[in-house]
Amino acid sequence: MKTILVLTSGGDAPGMNTAIRAIAKVGAARGARVMGVLAGYDGLMAGTFRELSRAEDGTALVDAEVDMMGGLGGTVLGSARSARFRTPEGRAEAAKQVAGMDGLIVIGGNGSLTGAHMLAAEHGVRVIGMPASIDNDIGCTGMAIGVDTALNTIVDACDRISDTARAHRRAFVVEVMGRESGYLAMAAGVAAGADAVLFREQGRSEVDVIDRVEQVIRAAFAPPRNKRRVLVIKSEGIQIPCTRMVRILQERIEDDLEGVDVRATVLGHLVRGGSPSFQDRMIGDRLSFAAVTALLEGRTDEMVAWQPPLPGGTATLDPSVRLFTLEHVLTETQALHDGTSPVIRARLALMENAEGVLGL
Ligand code: F6P
Repeated sequence: MKTILVLTSGGDAPGMNTAIRAIAKVGAARGARVMGVLAGYDGLMAGTFRELSRAEDGTALVDAEVDMMGGLGGTVLGSARSARFRTPEGRAEAAKQVAGMDGLIVIGGNGSLTGAHMLAAEHGVRVIGMPASIDNDIGCTGMAIGVDTALNTIVDACDRISDTARAHRRAFVVEVMGRESGYLAMAAGVAAGADAVLFREQGRSEVDVIDRVEQVIRAAFAPPRNKRRVLVIKSEGIQIPCTRMVRILQERIEDDLEGVDVRATVLGHLVRGGSPSFQDRMIGDRLSFAAVTALLEGRTDEMVAWQPPLPGGTATLDPSVRLFTLEHVLTETQALHDGTSPVIRARLALMENAEGVLGL
């Protein structure tokens, strides 16, 4: 019987549990034993594995617990950002634990997929990656697992903040996660009807960023518009702390915009939790099907991608899922992070056009 390992690594993302469940079920349907690795690459090095499917009389059964986990946020296997795995010794330990197994599925973001590629390249471990990160900053995939749920949470939070903002005539700066990518801020900004969106890829100085927000606030609250709420969504990648931004803005407007307050809310980890949305479950399920299939067909060092915006890659049975080599994925991810990717240029062009509309 073939044995497949699955691990979740890096920042957790809603939909990881749906993917684990799907991998266990697809594995069971194909007669493979599926084991979960506890706590990401730390657990791989330590060999702490947990049975996710078991065979009885030749028929694979999926545990009731596995059956129930699909709707849970976080990851039942646990996750970690492992420093030791980044060393050659750590990876050699991990490779030893995988010896005799038929492959490993790694669900995670850039760091996790880099680790997967290194295991394949250095030790010949059979590995398939699955993109999961609320930041949507992974190359070759239109969507990563977790993005949709995170966006729904942000939009809901912004609607709630807007309610109270309108009641008091306030401007709110809402900070959302996204260390290397402003995607969450851009997408949520449009969906929540924000007045301005601030993200690192715009390449603006601190002075420019604050001046721009001041202009937006003035244009909105001053006559003839007399708006009651201004919403500014700021990505984490913009280094200015919210408290500092709010203090400067308040000082600048208090003399001539009487009664208008500027406040800030940092949504932070709130956005990483919660039950996965339909879309994250569907993407998690379909990517899992392709990942198990690819591994059992003997493929390795690749990532399953959802509706990739770029041509190329190898088709799978599912028209929305394609396979890309991990090396290509990591190069594309780097280009997303350093802003040289055409995807970033397209997002910037769209947001530049949106800027004139958002403030209205
Ligand atoms: O996984 C990506 C991410 O959500 C980033 O947006 C954020 O900067 C980071 O994780 C936070 O990670 P941690 O929970 O380890 O502080």
